[in-house]
Amino acid sequence: MKKIFAANWKLFKTPEQTREFFVKFKDLSAATTGELVFFPSAICLEAASTSLQGSDIRWGAQNCFAQESGAFTGENSMAVIKGLGAQYVLIGHSERRSIFGETNSLVSEKVVLAQKLDLIPMLCIGETLAERESGKTNEVLKNQLLAGLTKIDKSKKLVVAYEPVWAIGTGKVASPEQVAETHTAVFEILKSLNLETTPILYGGSVKPDNAKELIRQSHVGGFLVGGASLEPSSFAAIASV
Ligand code: PGA
Repeated sequence: MKKIFAANWKLFKTPEQTREFFVKFKDLSAATTGELVFFPSAICLEAASTSLQGSDIRWGAQNCFAQESGAFTGENSMAVIKGLGAQYVLIGHSERRSIFGETNSLVSEKVVLAQKLDLIPMLCIGETLAERESGKTNEVLKNQLLAGLTKIDKSKKLVVAYEPVWAIGTGKVASPEQVAETHTAVFEILKSLNLETTPILYGGSVKPDNAKELIRQSHVGGFLVGGASLEPSSFAAIASV
């Protein structure tokens, strides 16, 4: 199966910087054999859509609301991003869960709507440091997966991104052993739900110098990259491992 290399730009880049990035990145991306997916901030999605027209590079939003439309001031609509040409939507990133209070049940509603609109949900899961240190990692991941996927349509595509919260933006990457062990646990949970073909991406301080070793670990189907995806050459290096 093709590896997936996804870029989460968070609240970085203007529309102009988005266009400049893709001018440089499109040349560099020839070296990758994986599927490339970008998650710019909502206000830059149109710039991404225009820049990527006619290319195989995919894109989506970092978050959308669980309803297509209505009186939801300040939210973004999956129906609108679908209309703009998005293929993906990132759902339940740990920053959404911890800063904006997203619950497993809201996350589940978002997964359902994404699939209904033929967007591919990239569902993020991950444990905090306290949860890992108290031996609860697998239990937390299982709860997040079971709750997030209760109403899933198994005939439609889904991607899971495992991102240990303590490794996001901290420079503390999970060790290859931790990645192999945890991805295997996530795979077993997905298998018990008859979802064993779901790609499982690793995220959390992925950089060009650790990507080679991490991609070789069991059940690693690609990466979700934050900081190191902001520079064209660094993300291209990660996507070419
Ligand atoms: P990071 O972010 O690569 O900067 O750790 C990953 C993410 O938040 O998806």
